[in-house]
Amino acid sequence: MEKAEGRTAGEPGQTESSLCLRIRPMSLADLPTVLEIEKECFPAPWSERIFRDVLDLDYYHFLTAILDGEVAGYCGYIRSFETADIANIAVRGSLRRSGIGEKLLRKLMDDGYRAGVERFSLEVRASNAPAIALYEKLGYRQEGLRRGYYENPREDALILWTPERSDT
Ligand SMILES: CC(C)(COP(=O)(O)OP(=O)(O)OC[C@H]1O[C@@H](n2cnc3c(N)ncnc32)[C@H](O)[C@@H]1OP(=O)(O)O)[C@@H](O)C(=O)NCCC(=O)NCCS
Repeated sequence: MEKAEGRTAGEPGQTESSLCLRIRPMSLADLPTVLEIEKECFPAPWSERIFRDVLDLDYYHFLTAILDGEVAGYCGYIRSFETADIANIAVRGSLRRSGIGEKLLRKLMDDGYRAGVERFSLEVRASNAPAIALYEKLGYRQEGLRRGYYENPREDALILWTPERSDT
């Protein structure tokens, strides 16, 4: 268990030190809250069916962040041989900027590296400054652009990659 640094205490009697963040594999029981956060974050949210399907497939790996017993965020990748694509990452709006997204992504990448992934890639909306800043902090760099990749609103996708492991 680790504390979500920087989050302020909420309920009366609740202190910073009592706010505990745990990151563990996503389970079916997480899905109701995961779907809420998914709808809050994305114009084309994944359905429950998609999450149920990916949780059954061993080339997907999904993690959930639990803060004080509640789902606070999640992320996951799809693996193809020595590379893995970050499929999604999201943190509940009210809990952002407290280190949860970074901890999730670091743990996800650590798991991947341990399982033999050599490089991670992802697509991100060109205007998504918070996500781009997070990815760059963790070493991702732009290597490509897909014009008009996203809809609602239509927007380009930046294609980011981590360096080759030998470069790090
Ligand atoms: C992207 C997202 C997951 C980040 O989660 P978070 O928990 O708020 O991020 P963290 O608090 O862990 O921040 C880690 C780093 O990310 C960057 N960052 C995060 N939010 C930022 C913001 N609003 N502005 C600038 N940089 C930001 C910073 O580099 C930060 O490091 P710092 O605290 O040392 O400055 C969150 O904003 C989110 O859920 N967005 C909606 C869903 C989404 O767009 N997902 C990405 C799809 S590609």
